[in-house]
Amino acid sequence: MDKKATWDRFYTESSSRTATFKNFEWFFSFDTVRDFIMPLLQTKSHPDALLQVLDMGCGTSSLGPSIYRHSTLPCRVTCADISPVAVRLMQEHVRTEAIQPLNLSSQLEFVELDCTQLHKRYSSGTLDLIVDKGTTDALVRSKEGRGKASVVLKQCLKALRVSGSLLQFSDEDPDARLLWLETEAREQGVVAADVAVQEVGELRGVCYYCYQITPRAVG
Ligand SMILES: C[S@@+](CC[C@H](N)C(=O)[O-])C[C@H]1O[C@@H](n2cnc3c(N)ncnc32)[C@H](O)[C@@H]1O
Repeated sequence: MDKKATWDRFYTESSSRTATFKNFEWFFSFDTVRDFIMPLLQTKSHPDALLQVLDMGCGTSSLGPSIYRHSTLPCRVTCADISPVAVRLMQEHVRTEAIQPLNLSSQLEFVELDCTQLHKRYSSGTLDLIVDKGTTDALVRSKEGRGKASVVLKQCLKALRVSGSLLQFSDEDPDARLLWLETEAREQGVVAADVAVQEVGELRGVCYYCYQITPRAVG
């Protein structure tokens, strides 16, 4: 679940099943999760700056493009994935679709990026919002277990502004995920973080949650 080749194969096969491109949602579409996301994009950290949003492990989901489309404040939405196949499919899709954002200053981009290397692209305190729909779940379920997910969480907390948030949409039970998040957040040297959870809903008998992690300055 954390291997580039596995995901490349997955997106190659799913795109070959239909003649025209169709977004693939691992679970839930934008409409189900929008009320968790859009209220976090109501205030700008700097008057002149674009809100910086990262959809981490975007796959071919419509989540990032929908945030770009519906944000009233100007934002730059970066949709990043380890799979170049997913990135190319999305780049081609938005080129043909020509999505119009509510705010004409908003920007949308797709990049190939291994989220364990987030620090190579983002300096500390530069992102306003990171959304992760199923990506940490994929890392947690890899052979290495939580090791890689912990590296990613640490980098997300570094890359976020103090006022920013990381939203993890996941089917992992709060008993396990909250304990892990709270332990990891306590272990951060420079920043600590507040952790909260809300239920999103059920899909095919599985309950999904939204974990919100907000860094706070310590000292
Ligand atoms: C469960 S899928 C979720 C995809 C999408 N967010 C959705 O909701 O449909 C996990 C995604 O994480 C990506 N991924 C896995 N490991 C990654 C890594 N180290 N860096 C960036 N993306 C990764 C995969 O390519 C895949 O697209």
